[in-house]
Amino acid sequence: MSARLEAEHLYKVFGRKPDQAVERLREGTDREELRADGITAAVIDASFTVEPGEIFVVMGLSGSGKSTLLRMLNGLLEPTAGHVRFGGQDLTELGDRGLREVRSRKISMVFQHFALFPHRSVRDNAAYGLEVQGVPRAERVRRADEALALCGLAGWEKSWPDELSGGMQQRVGLARALATDADLLLMDESFSALDPLIRRDMQDQLLELQKTLKKTIVFITHDLNEAMRLGDRIAVMRDGRIVQIGSAQDILLRPANDYVASFTQDVDRSRVLTAGAVMDTATRGDEADCDCETATPGTPFTELCAISARVPHAVAVLDGERLVGVVPRQRLIGFLGDEQTGPGTCDTRRDKGGEKVMARA
Ligand SMILES: Nc1ncnc2c1ncn2[C@@H]1O[C@H](COP(=O)(O)OP(=O)(O)OP(=O)(O)O)[C@@H](O)[C@H]1O
Ligand SMILES: [Mg+2]
Repeated sequence: MSARLEAEHLYKVFGRKPDQAVERLREGTDREELRADGITAAVIDASFTVEPGEIFVVMGLSGSGKSTLLRMLNGLLEPTAGHVRFGGQDLTELGDRGLREVRSRKISMVFQHFALFPHRSVRDNAAYGLEVQGVPRAERVRRADEALALCGLAGWEKSWPDELSGGMQQRVGLARALATDADLLLMDESFSALDPLIRRDMQDQLLELQKTLKKTIVFITHDLNEAMRLGDRIAVMRDGRIVQIGSAQDILLRPANDYVASFTQDVDRSRVLTAGAVMDTATRGDEADCDCETATPGTPFTELCAISARVPHAVAVLDGERLVGVVPRQRLIGFLGDEQTGPGTCDTRRDKGGEKVMARA
């Protein structure tokens, strides 16, 4: 059974007198000031909780502190301040031996460039973590083969790594992590080196696997589209700090600041938004009283547009029997805007004949 992961006021400072630097950060000194003194504040006051079965994505530009944060979560790096708890156990209080034990049994990491052992078969590569744990050979083989099958590599067990494509090699990396039965999966840019199509494929596979495995997953990426596809929740990092934590829709519709908003500009909104996020809960018209097509809060945006084009009035959003909101057609157009989102833009665009544009679409 998976467990909850908690990060509490985590700091990581590289350089001289790190404790003192944390004090200064707490007192409001900014990162640049420390930098001038040759000190890098890689992670500043990061707190969050990841529930069992959740995919928590950490997103941010290069150098924002993602990998440093991840390495503190499995104890590879000791936090300068703060706590990491997994399944109630405080990793920051464990000694080296205890940490190694937790790392080999409960936590698995999948990196961007997954290094396979060239002279080991795919099976033995997938079984590597189990070998480290001292699991007997027969059980190792069984569990490795199971994990390989989960990752779509049944039939490749006896192959050599160089017979596999890059995408398949990355799957072996995932299989190795899954074979150990670790409850916590830490994935650092695990799919970033893959071609776009294969990358999408891996994302789908991970989502599919997660439906049954329900691990606790922290996934790092600098790609917002990937973050939005995978993340139940997303933490956006900037210069060592988490500036927002929220669902894909939160981040898109309610960015905490201009920085987050600028990130979301290129996101394909229609793939992220659902009826529940764009509906109007205040007004209720006669749309509920006819036999027209309706939507549910989970109806994807593109489908909602299609329904809207077929019905003569606003689309009713029903949760079971209950009317929970309506989506007037002009509202849909506002949400596709790139410069601003929300009902404000709807009104302006309706004046410009947005309603007609939508009807033709
Ligand atoms: N061992 C270290 N010693 C000194 N500084 C470090 C060390 N590790 C990381 N840093 C610094 O900490 C900051 C955060 O680095 P980190 O690798 O966590 O960023 P990242 O978000 O993972 O970036 P990328 O997307 O490029 O992988 C950077 O300024 C980096 O130079
Ligand atoms: Mg990194």
